[in-house]
Amino acid sequence: MDETFKPADALRGRLTPPPDKSISHRAAIVAAMGAGETAIHNYLDAADTRSTLAAISALGADVQPAPPSRTADTTPPVAGNRPLGGVEVRVRGVGLRAARPASIDVGNAGTLLRILPGWLAGQEAGEWTLDGDESIRGRPVDRVAQPLREMGATVTCRDDRLPPLAVVGAPLHAIDYRLPVASAQVKSCLLLAGLLAQGETTVTEPQPTRDHTERMLRAAGANLAIEDAGTPIAIRGSLPARRVRIAPAERLELDAITVPGDFSSAAFLAVAAVLVPGSRVELEGVGINPTRVGLLGILTRMGAAIDVVETAAAGSEPVGTLTASHSRLEGTRIGAGEVPLTIDELPLVALAACFAEGDTVVSGAEELRHKESDRIATVVDGLRGLGAEIEATDDGFAVKGSGSLRGGALDTAGDHRLAMLGAIAGLASSDGVEVNGFEAAEVSYPGFSADVEALLRPA
Ligand code: S3P
Repeated sequence: MDETFKPADALRGRLTPPPDKSISHRAAIVAAMGAGETAIHNYLDAADTRSTLAAISALGADVQPAPPSRTADTTPPVAGNRPLGGVEVRVRGVGLRAARPASIDVGNAGTLLRILPGWLAGQEAGEWTLDGDESIRGRPVDRVAQPLREMGATVTCRDDRLPPLAVVGAPLHAIDYRLPVASAQVKSCLLLAGLLAQGETTVTEPQPTRDHTERMLRAAGANLAIEDAGTPIAIRGSLPARRVRIAPAERLELDAITVPGDFSSAAFLAVAAVLVPGSRVELEGVGINPTRVGLLGILTRMGAAIDVVETAAAGSEPVGTLTASHSRLEGTRIGAGEVPLTIDELPLVALAACFAEGDTVVSGAEELRHKESDRIATVVDGLRGLGAEIEATDDGFAVKGSGSLRGGALDTAGDHRLAMLGAIAGLASSDGVEVNGFEAAEVSYPGFSADVEALLRPA
């Protein structure tokens, strides 16, 4: 499906972005591992997170979806706003050690593919396979297979690197693991395995990565300690890298969890407001966990008028309102220390850089090559096709900002973040952008076009 996004006059108004994809995946998995019933409020109803509900059902969890959580939003709908937008889901868990053998279709969900094997590896009887769509079949899983083997499970994958992934559960023993790549998915996988292992498992990150799993497992009663592992790369805006210690558990219990709005989805609308003259957008109910919001530091450094006010908490996750207004931008440099905190927003950094004065260079971001598409290639080719002066490097990209972007056509390569990047590029461009394969946006942000429309025509 192709959709065209014309140059916009201004985006104005406020809205609540859809529920967080990362936290929704984790909520469903941790609920399935639980001993009782968990009520998940504001679960993301999108392609990726539906795959996770189907997966936990196949493993024996009882999943009861309920209608959209219209009542969860206590403020009346306002112009350009909508209720929280997620769904209520009730999950009766199977318990830590009783997952049923199954073949699991993860669809396009890399987070499900990489996190779930940690739980399955520790089941003492049974075999599981995980497979997904064409894009999933190109995403490396050796990063989880290898440490899970070290813990005692039998894990095999195609060419020893790619899905399908087969797991034969076993009694696990703890390991002391230093992540070779800064990946929250791998860290999370090993923390789940650690719950089922003999002894204390430690996972050390080379750079800080999102810590939603740690927060949620603690809330569910896991015994987990987080230590500072030093900051190997001293870069402005970076957080200290961490070592997480997790003890084996008998049971997990999470009565209820509320998923905050997704910062990564909100980021598209915030950047649109920064790039389109005359814009001012307020985004409410957004998760502002410090391990997710690296983009805010980068945009602020570039000169963007973007404010955050913490307003509430969703369980152990901080929530706030972001206000973004049109601004003149300058180029900047982004290195490895900031990359994991901004990993899904780097395509937006590339777009913002096109509108900045001067050069922007992103390095230390080789991981972008292993996302839903090779995001160094797809972002560089996509934006260049719209008139940008952008070059790929081995581990990032370099942009020569010209203050504007012509427009044209952009192919999403089936990648949801490319679809929304093309849309925002269109709003900020001189000629508009036709986004080919726009349906990919459904993976994380159903209703994206309607939200953009609401901000273009505030009541
Ligand atoms: C995610 C972690 C990141 C991110 C992905 C979601 C998660 O991946 O890019 O969209 O939910 O843990 P990596 O762990 O591969 O960096």
